[in-house]
Amino acid sequence: MSPARKRRRWVIAIDGPAGVGKSTVGHLVAKSLGYRFINTGEMYRALTWKVLEENIDFRAAGKVARLAKRLKWEFRPTEEGTTLKTTLDGEAVTVHIRDERVSRNSSLVAGIPEVRRFLRKLQRDLGRDGGIVMEGRDITTNVFADAEVKVYLDASIEERALRRYRQLKASGHEGSLDRIQEGILSRDRMDLERKINPLRQTEDSVFIDSTRLSLREVAQRILECVRERRRGLSR
Ligand code: DC
Repeated sequence: MSPARKRRRWVIAIDGPAGVGKSTVGHLVAKSLGYRFINTGEMYRALTWKVLEENIDFRAAGKVARLAKRLKWEFRPTEEGTTLKTTLDGEAVTVHIRDERVSRNSSLVAGIPEVRRFLRKLQRDLGRDGGIVMEGRDITTNVFADAEVKVYLDASIEERALRRYRQLKASGHEGSLDRIQEGILSRDRMDLERKINPLRQTEDSVFIDSTRLSLREVAQRILECVRERRRGLSR
């Protein structure tokens, strides 16, 4: 039996391209299981924000990595208790990390191997005792390749753009559907072509195409997989 199988509370890893609903689904699954949820993209975004704040050149990989190691990283549950939010040196980053400049530059930070190694260690520590749903582009392939349940979520580009458009509108932001679609396609390209830990679907991941499913239905499917795995293991 692998060490991962010995965890009583599991790690559920969710991978997939930008705008596919990983966070909404991950949160629903975690809430239903009484687990914690974390969106690892927020960590890359948080560091990107700090790099901008400190006027560090994104090409200075060593400086960016040193900054990452100098900061105090903490992950605190929100009031509702499911989601863990990143704080840096005691400051919550949520209000800073959806900024356009952060979005545009986060793939540069995510392409620095030393930064990836450092954040991977923080992410592994968060899931060491299980009881967590973790989402992000490399969680099933790299960070928790040994997760008990691995899911690869996908949806058509049109549907992903439409979801992002509605999400922005609901939060009071205007955006053009074409530009959102362009942005998602360009992030897809960068994530797929990244030299280190590119976006990939592993053979042992459950593939779910959510184009014609609501995110609630997707969460239900994942919960069914969890139940099936548990039944399989207890036989
Ligand atoms: O999912 P997101 O757009 O918030 O992610 C922000 C950036 O971080 C994006 O460039 C993808 C990258 N990322 C990553 O490389 N690995 C992860 N586990 C999560 C995000």
